Amino acid sequence: MWNDTVITRILGIRYPIIQAPMAGGLSTPELVAAVSDAGGLGSFGAGYMSPQSIRVAIRKIRQLTKNPFAINLFIPQRDLHDVNREAITSMKQYLRSLKDIPPEIGEEISQLSLDHTPFDFSEQMAVIIEEQVPIFSFTFGCPAAPDIETLKARNIRVMGTATTVAEAFELEKAGVDAVIAQGSEAGGHRGSFLDSDDSSLVGLVALVPQIADEIKVPVIASGGIMDGRGIVAALALGAAGVQMGTAFIPARECGAHSQYKEAVLASHRQKNVLTTAFSGKPARIIQNTFITSMKQYQGSIPPYPVQNALTTPIRNWAAKNSRPDFMSLWAGQGSPLSREYGAGDLMAVLIKETSQVLGSLS
Ligand SMILES: Cc1cc2nc3c(=O)[nH]c(=O)nc-3n(C[C@H](O)[C@H](O)[C@H](O)COP(=O)(O)O)c2cc1C
Repeated sequence: MWNDTVITRILGIRYPIIQAPMAGGLSTPELVAAVSDAGGLGSFGAGYMSPQSIRVAIRKIRQLTKNPFAINLFIPQRDLHDVNREAITSMKQYLRSLKDIPPEIGEEISQLSLDHTPFDFSEQMAVIIEEQVPIFSFTFGCPAAPDIETLKARNIRVMGTATTVAEAFELEKAGVDAVIAQGSEAGGHRGSFLDSDDSSLVGLVALVPQIADEIKVPVIASGGIMDGRGIVAALALGAAGVQMGTAFIPARECGAHSQYKEAVLASHRQKNVLTTAFSGKPARIIQNTFITSMKQYQGSIPPYPVQNALTTPIRNWAAKNSRPDFMSLWAGQGSPLSREYGAGDLMAVLIKETSQVLGSLS
């Protein structure tokens, strides 16, 4: 059967379908549990959360499902002290000057102090270990081999994100159990950590077989996969599983703002672009007013996580006031294929479609 792969065996799941971690409140415990209960792997994006909130979320997921799930973190890359202060001041001024941004939000941006990263990565990791989560996944970098060894010694499976063959090699060398190959179609942030230039923008059809040929650990295909056709294609390319983010955004269990969900479902005529405008790190998104306004900015956009912190007051304001034109509408190039199902129903549809597509090919 197509669903019995090395990934289902390693992760202890029934179907090689992983719901992508989506930090920022999208991958709620309810979404994670619904996918894991349906036989896939639900993943909780905890990158922006305090260690204490991560612990609470893990316990909530455990109350909701008995099945395996993953917790995902961001590998820290940059010391905020490296960032040019003038670039920050100039960006603050520009954001304040944007049409529609109320003065009190402009004031909040001006007052932002960016002297420390919000949460300590090693404290976040300590929670992952103490709570003995079944699976840990990560993006934006590669932990040191001894750290991965510590996780594996506690029986925690480890999966890392690669956008190139070189990154996949590095992850394998560090000891991961599986590599998530993130194609350039993927929604949200690029996981690139060796190079973040155009050479890391490899489409999934080219990326998956190259990585599968070069490394021994299993490969999970991620980016633009929205239905059974995409799953079959990924398996044919040599992946042992898929990780899907955008497809799950419209699900009722997903924590996205209702207008964000509507924007994804109605994205047929919208531009889907890669931008650093919201966070300082390249990310794929549905273009809106904020992004077009940022194109006029003459200076250089401060790197992640500084720009991410600078635009947070705008995004919070946009969510409170139902202004999708200023929300970060992260979505992959497949978003026009999105459908409005609950997470469990979407899983059932994906499983059925995959069998049907395979049947029609044979
Ligand atoms: C809204 C959103 C948030 C994301 N957040 C994370 C995250 O916190 N951690 C992570 O490893 N990947 C994250 N990703 C990337 C996904 O893991 C995955 O690569 C991507 O969703 C695949 O492309 P697709 O959206 O076309 O399915 C995010 C993607 C989206 C759409």
